[in-house]
Amino acid sequence: PLPELLKSFEPHFLLSDEKLRDVVTHFRKEMEGGLSEYGKDVAMVPSFVTGVPDGSEEGTFLALDLGGTNLRVCEVRLFGEHKFEIKQQKYKVSDELKEGQARVLFDYIADSVDAFLTDIGSDISSNEPMHLGFTFSFPVEQTAIDAGKLLTWTKGFNAKNAIGHDVVKLLQDAFDKKHIHVRCSALVNDTVGTLLSRSYQSGPALIGAIFGTGTNGAYIDKTRTVTKLGEDKISEAEKGGEHAGEFMVVNTEWGAFDNGRHCLPISAFDNKLDRESINPRKQAFEKLVSGMYLGEIVRNILLHLIDSSVLFDGYSSDVLNTHYGFDAAFVSGIEGCKTSDEVKQLIIKVLGVNTKYITEGCTEVVQWACRVVAERACKLAGCAIAAVILHTGNDKVPEGEEDKGVDVGIDGSVAEFLPRFFDRVEEALVVVLGKEGSSRVKMGLAKDGSGVGAALTALQAKKAMDQRP
Ligand code: BG6
Ligand code: GLC
Repeated sequence: PLPELLKSFEPHFLLSDEKLRDVVTHFRKEMEGGLSEYGKDVAMVPSFVTGVPDGSEEGTFLALDLGGTNLRVCEVRLFGEHKFEIKQQKYKVSDELKEGQARVLFDYIADSVDAFLTDIGSDISSNEPMHLGFTFSFPVEQTAIDAGKLLTWTKGFNAKNAIGHDVVKLLQDAFDKKHIHVRCSALVNDTVGTLLSRSYQSGPALIGAIFGTGTNGAYIDKTRTVTKLGEDKISEAEKGGEHAGEFMVVNTEWGAFDNGRHCLPISAFDNKLDRESINPRKQAFEKLVSGMYLGEIVRNILLHLIDSSVLFDGYSSDVLNTHYGFDAAFVSGIEGCKTSDEVKQLIIKVLGVNTKYITEGCTEVVQWACRVVAERACKLAGCAIAAVILHTGNDKVPEGEEDKGVDVGIDGSVAEFLPRFFDRVEEALVVVLGKEGSSRVKMGLAKDGSGVGAALTALQAKKAMDQRP
C-alpha cells in the first residue's frame, strides 16, 4: 500500500468533476476578458489570419520555427489536394542564446536560415526574395500579418532587448545585414500554424493546440467577438481592406490562464517550481500542464518524499538534486512501464539512484508521482479545449445544420509521447461537455504542423501583397 502521506497530496492532482467544471467556468471568463480588453493575462491575440485553407493551396515557401524543442528551418512545398512535402533542418538553441542579447539570437537564426539554404542548394540569387513564414511561439501583440511586438518571453527564453520590439523587424534586420535574400512576410504563432495545417490536411478545424514544451491554443472566432479591436478595425476586417473576413483566428495564450490563482489546483510542489523559475507568477496554467515543467514537478515531489524518509531510504542522487535534472521524457517513460523492474531500471538510468535504495515500494511511489502529475496535466488540457468549445457554442449542433463535428489539431511532445494523453483529455471532455457534446469532438495529432501553417500564412500574405495596387 502507498504511504498515507501520498494520499494527502492527491486532491491537488486527482481533480474532481466539480473542480474541472470550475476551471472551465473561470477559463471562459478570462477568455472573454481578453477579447474585450488589451493587457489581460489570457491575451486573446487577433492573428489577422482570416481565411482558413481548404487544401488546394500551392507554392514553395520557407518556414522558420522558434519556440519548441528545436529551432527549425523548413522548405515547404504545397502541392494542393491536401498534399505537401517538407525539407527541414533542426538547430539547437543554447541557454546562452536564450538568455543573452536578442540581436545575437536573431543573428544566429539568420545564420541558420543561410546554412539551410546552402545545404539544400537553394537558388536565392534571383531578383524575387524568397518568402518566409515565421512561426514564433511566444506571446506577441500582433498588429498585422507581418508585424507584432513581443509581450513577454515564456518557456525558458529571456533574451534582452526584445520585449516591446517587432520580432519581424528583428529578424528582417538580421537577414538584411547579412545580405540574405529572404523576406519575412508572415508572423504566426505555433498554435495558429497547427490550426491552419490541420485544416489544409484534413478539412476545417476549430482549434489548433500545442501540448509540448509550452501549451497554448488558437481557434476560430467571429471577428466581431474580438471587441477590443474597435468598430473601425472590425468592419475593415469584415467588409474589405487587407484581410477581409467574418472570422478570425485568435491566439488565446492560455498558458497564462489563472495567473491570479483563483481556481487552479496549485500545490506546494508547484509553488516551489514557480518561485525558482525565471518567470515567477507568470504562465500559471502552462506550469501545471506543459512538458517543460512536468519533470520538475515530479522532482519536487520525489525530493519531498526522500526528505520525509518514505522514498529511497532517505537518499537522493545528483540528478534529483539538480534543478530541471530530468524532463518530461522520464514521466512518459515511467507511465509507459509495464513491470516494476522496468520502473526500477529507469530510476537507475535516468535518476541515477543507487540500486540498493530502490525497494519494490519505491517503484510504486515513483509511479504514483508520475501518474498524478500526468493525470492533472491531461485533465487540465481537456479543460482548455472544452472552454473553447463552449465559448464558440460548439458543444451542440448549430440549429438547422448537419452535425459535422468539431475538429481539434494537436501538436507537441506531451501529446505525442505521454501515454494515454488523448484518452485522459477525452475523460475531461466527457465530464465538462457531457457524453453527447464530447462525442462531437475529434482530436488528432498534427505533427510538425506549424511549418506547413507558416507556409500557408506566407502564401496568404503574398497574395495580399500581390493584389495591392
Ligand atoms: C512542433 C511545431 O512540431 O511542435 C512547433 O512545429 C511547436 O511549432 C512544437 O512549437 C511544440 O512541441 P515541442 O514539444 O517541441 O515544444
Ligand atoms: C508558450 C507561448 C505560446 C506558445 C506555447 C506553445 O505558451 O507563450 O505562444 O504557443 O508556448 O509553444
